[in-house]
Amino acid sequence: MKRADTFYITTPIYYVNDVPHIGHAYTTVAADVLARYWRLRGRDVFFLTGLDEHGQKVQQAAANAGVDPQTYCDQLAPQFEKLWKRLNISNDAFIRTTEPQHIDVVQRFLTQLYDSEHKLIYKAAYTGWYCTFDERFWTEKDVPDGLCPDCKRPVEHLSESNYFFKMGEYQDRLIKHIQASRQFIRPDSRRNEVLGFLTTQKLGDLSISRPKSRLSWGIELPFDKDYVTYVWFDALVNYISALEYKLKPNSPTSFWPANIHLIGKDILTTHAVYWSTMLMALGLELPQTIFAHGWWTVDGEKMSKSRGNVVDPYAMVDQFGADAFRYFLLREVPFGQDGDFSKEAMIGRINSDLANGLGNLLSRTLTMIDRYCGGRIPPAHSGWEEHENTLENAVRESAWLIDELLTTLQFHRALELIWNVIQTADQYIESQQPWKLAKEQSNRMRLEQVLYRLAETLRHIGYHVLPFMPFTGEEILRQLGLAVAEPGSYQTVLEWGRLASGTEVRKSAPLFPRIEPITAQGAKTVTENPRPAASSLADATTATTAQQASTTTQTAPAYITIDEFMKIQLKTATVLTAERVPKSEKLIKLQVDLGAEQRQIVAGIGKKYEPEALVGKRIVIVANLKPAKLMGIESQGMVLAAGDKEVGGLVTVLEDVEPGTKVK
Ligand code: MSP
Repeated sequence: MKRADTFYITTPIYYVNDVPHIGHAYTTVAADVLARYWRLRGRDVFFLTGLDEHGQKVQQAAANAGVDPQTYCDQLAPQFEKLWKRLNISNDAFIRTTEPQHIDVVQRFLTQLYDSEHKLIYKAAYTGWYCTFDERFWTEKDVPDGLCPDCKRPVEHLSESNYFFKMGEYQDRLIKHIQASRQFIRPDSRRNEVLGFLTTQKLGDLSISRPKSRLSWGIELPFDKDYVTYVWFDALVNYISALEYKLKPNSPTSFWPANIHLIGKDILTTHAVYWSTMLMALGLELPQTIFAHGWWTVDGEKMSKSRGNVVDPYAMVDQFGADAFRYFLLREVPFGQDGDFSKEAMIGRINSDLANGLGNLLSRTLTMIDRYCGGRIPPAHSGWEEHENTLENAVRESAWLIDELLTTLQFHRALELIWNVIQTADQYIESQQPWKLAKEQSNRMRLEQVLYRLAETLRHIGYHVLPFMPFTGEEILRQLGLAVAEPGSYQTVLEWGRLASGTEVRKSAPLFPRIEPITAQGAKTVTENPRPAASSLADATTATTAQQASTTTQTAPAYITIDEFMKIQLKTATVLTAERVPKSEKLIKLQVDLGAEQRQIVAGIGKKYEPEALVGKRIVIVANLKPAKLMGIESQGMVLAAGDKEVGGLVTVLEDVEPGTKVK
């Protein structure tokens, strides 16, 4: 029986067919915030993430890399684990679906369903349209154009015997469950989407096997060695199998049902329908909440490898720091909605919210405590209440609201609220003018009270930002002279007035140096002053502003070494033929002459050029780019063109050099 004070949260397990990107980081950071929050609230938390290592995608990626799938997974897994360390992710376990204990559980579940009285798994022949990339069948009407409705790649007609799970039997029960629980599928729009589909279409049975002749990289069916398990039937089981062998020795034994499965909107059906019906068939409880978040576009465009705009979380952490990246991801976009990522937006948030807002408040307050109170937290002077304590009210109100907002996964609103408190504290400084109070000995108590209230507010802010920005939260507490926060701290620390007078503060470097944006041309834009230097803000606050200005950093251009550059093989090529890719406005298929060989390249230059205008042109290509398929057509390289979002013009060579000549 699950205890009410446990909290089990999961992320999807990520395919190891490529290195991690912003989408993976997004779900994992969000899950981490919740895990950290509930630990501070005193719950026993189990936070699980990991890797989905079987299936077509991984087998294919391994084949492309020329290694066996297990070696491939072993090579890529550390890329994820290291990223989670760099992003300060506090997962309690990391599961990989090739682990023997996981495989055992999957096979046990398969046997249970196969042997069940109602034969919940049965064998049958199936004919349909199969998308290799998505590893699923489509019906005739789904693919009028011969393309997969999901990924737009060509589908193939397949007929084969497979094992099916009687998913359709659970349709009514699932509908009733979703209708009975408002929190089962979140947000509401996604709940309606699933209900809409379930109430208007007949739910079919699910093919849960793949013949080994077609796909060998998977968990063998315990009752037929010619088949492996469908990757989703294997992957979803991780949420349960991990509880069998990943729990720490002293942790509670029953975490199931999960409190929250965090997922992206694209994998809602597999979770809300496949997983739920699997659990019903296995006689297990359903998770309490499946929350589907939105997707990130990048500079207004869909993120994809072929566009070359995939946001690398490692690079974000290198350039901006883990906390700033975490903050941006959760502050910028309401969780559940789609959002757009751009470096400009990120720099804007860092400067306004983190450097000017939070960092400046801490720095100003500690500067004044250093200067007027000898670097120690002054007495609170309780009982001496001339003025209403606006700060205490703001802090109190925010605490219970944040609780509600995090319970409903409204991260951006929780952060907004914390920043309202920061703003209230800034206004308090402006209205109380401590530097004036400091001039008159008769105002001493008042000055101490004002500074105490500011420091106490910052202590609360430190605790509130901890789940979002763990380094920053700890650093605020450290600068206030406090110890690190222990699990369960929120039971006691979020009470006004707990900051002990006399505590020695440790003012250090600014939390977040301002970042000076660089325009596209590389020219520095002038940043506004962090805080208008109001004439009334005398020494203490001006000192802070000056210090901030001097620590301003620039976004360093991401230099590469000459060796790195030399890895890119640029070559001249002559266009032999050019034709438009059917149904695409942008893509043109080129055959190019490289001297010693001919290549086919698919280039996104169709809006700028008519194919016939390209024949005979001497262009420059990246010759060692890994081949990729664009709309089902293989491209063996990339042409160079000037332009950012739109193609301005192709890069050509003035002189009549031989095709295949090296360009450097
Ligand atoms: N292996 C499956 C999940 C199995 S869970 C039992 C899988 N893996 S994935 O690596 O392809 O995707 C993982 C997550 O990344 C998904 O939740 C997906 O929504 C998310 N994202 C992929 N691209 C994204 C964006 N551009 N933006 C936000 N999240 C995105 O699916």
